[in-house]
Amino acid sequence: MAAIFRPSANLWSALGLSVIAGLFVLGLGWWFFFPRTNYARHVGWHVEQLVPFSHQHHVAGLGIDCRFCHTSVEVSSTAGLPPTYTCMTCHSQIWTNAKMLAPVRHSLAENKPIVWNRVHDLPDYVYFNHSIHIAKGVGCSSCHGPVDRMPLTYKAKTLTMGFCLECHRNPGPNLRPKDQIYNTEWQRTESTPSPEALMAEYHIGGRNLTDCSICHR
Ligand code: HEC
Ligand code: HEC
Ligand code: HEC
Ligand code: HEC
Ligand code: HEC
Repeated sequence: MAAIFRPSANLWSALGLSVIAGLFVLGLGWWFFFPRTNYARHVGWHVEQLVPFSHQHHVAGLGIDCRFCHTSVEVSSTAGLPPTYTCMTCHSQIWTNAKMLAPVRHSLAENKPIVWNRVHDLPDYVYFNHSIHIAKGVGCSSCHGPVDRMPLTYKAKTLTMGFCLECHRNPGPNLRPKDQIYNTEWQRTESTPSPEALMAEYHIGGRNLTDCSICHR
């Protein structure tokens, strides 16, 4: 019987198969890991807005408290964005003709809220709540980074499930005293109460915070 395949065919098909297998593994890795990278999650990219609002000017420069604008952060699941009249408490008097602020004046005149593009947006199947984190000693910068140094707001942390779980596994070292929640430059120091003391102070420890049903309900 004449040979249909030359002996080298085995080698070639083996090689071909391993290349395909290799590409498959790489592809799987890409498919799994790429969406979790900082690049894919736009970490560090500022978001363009109609009005170039600067936290750096308003928070670090003028010393305005987060709660002046994000009024519901302590009492509700959402932090909320300021209505136009909050801006106008000052901008009806300062920078009244600035071109940059024209959309703010239009918004007030036409009684239509300013549309802000979202910087953070979790998928709808995740349950999140601001007020409990604030009440239990988690500061804004743990999830939002150094907001007071942002000329334009950007996402500082990935906010992936892995990010949430890293803290939920062991919250103690990430907790801070109550009076430091809004201080976006806060760092743990020698005089900070121990993680154990903070866990006790905030009565944390009764629940398993990594249960799927905590965040997926
Ligand atoms: C003078 C009002 C004002 C103050 C004070 C203020 N913010 Fe904001 N904040 C805004 C406005 C307006 C936006 C929407 C535009 C933007 O994203 O920059 C915003 C957006 C944000 C966002 C992004 C929201 C999103 O789309 O996901 C975060 C996070 C945030 N602020 C945190 C803070 C923190 C933390 C503080 C205090 C350290 C603070 N803000 C103080 C007005 C304010
Ligand atoms: C407590 C007073 C106050 C409030 C409230 C306030 N601003 Fe300002 N804003 C200022 C002052 C003062 C400046 C000038 C800052 C400077 O040049 O250092 C300014 C500057 C600006 C500028 C010019 C660019 C810059 O950052 O220098 C924009 C745009 C602006 N504000 C938007 C807003 C918007 C939008 C809101 C509402 C979400 C708002 N401001 C709320 C006081 C305020
Ligand atoms: C434990 C993490 C965490 C902490 C702490 C936290 N945030 Fe957020 N924040 C988020 C997440 C996640 C979102 C996106 C929510 C969504 O998409 O539904 C968000 C969204 C926001 C928004 C957009 C509007 C909204 O409510 O969805 C603002 C403004 C904001 N945060 C301000 C703050 C301020 C101010 C503080 C501190 C007082 C703070 N956040 C503390 C995780 C956090
Ligand atoms: C820096 C620490 C930290 C990070 C980051 C964090 N959490 Fe939490 N989370 C806590 C603490 C502390 C509690 C309160 C635990 C308690 O009361 O026993 C909590 C509680 C919760 C609860 C329970 C709320 C309730 O009413 O039962 C949910 C839901 C939650 N977190 C979701 C998230 C999600 C989603 C993320 C990521 C976007 C996140 N958390 C990131 C520390 C954190
Ligand atoms: C502390 C909050 C938290 C807990 C607890 C949690 N998740 Fe998630 N989960 C998230 C967040 C946030 C996302 C969205 C991540 C993103 O933006 O892609 C997510 C996304 C997912 C996804 C979508 C695919 C993915 O990985 O992006 C699946 C599936 C999932 N979670 C399953 C689970 C299961 C199973 C458990 C229990 C073992 C669990 N989660 C516990 C916060 C949580």
